[in-house]
Amino acid sequence: MMKPSILIVMGLVLTASVAQADEPDLAHGKAVFSRNCALCHGAAGAGGLGPKLKGIKDRKTDAEIESQLKEPKGTMPKMYPAPVGDKDLADVVAYLKSL
Ligand code: HEC
Repeated sequence: MMKPSILIVMGLVLTASVAQADEPDLAHGKAVFSRNCALCHGAAGAGGLGPKLKGIKDRKTDAEIESQLKEPKGTMPKMYPAPVGDKDLADVVAYLKSL
């Protein structure tokens, strides 16, 4: 039988990770973008070797953006599941939609 204090700590850890999974972290999404995507898509998605991503939310759904990351069309390299993992992917999609 575990001590009640351990159960409380475990409960808090679980609550924290659920909250993190639900809420996109734009600062993290931006960091993921700068590290993995800006080289081709330009700083803040202005475009370059890859298409401009500013305003992408008016052209593509979340699912379409995610599928380009998971199964890229054209010459875009596949970066999922590494170095862009699930949490990175969700945050970078949220960041793209904010551009
Ligand atoms: C090596 C260059 C390169 C890198 C790095 C790269 N992309 Fe791309 N990306 C492209 C190219 C080229 C296309 C156009 C693909 C095609 O021919 O349809 C593209 C297309 C896209 C599209 C679809 C755009 C549209 O208007 O249809 C999205 C969304 C996208 N990239 C997001 C990302 C994200 C997010 C990252 C970082 C995790 C990333 N890309 C990294 C080159 C790159």
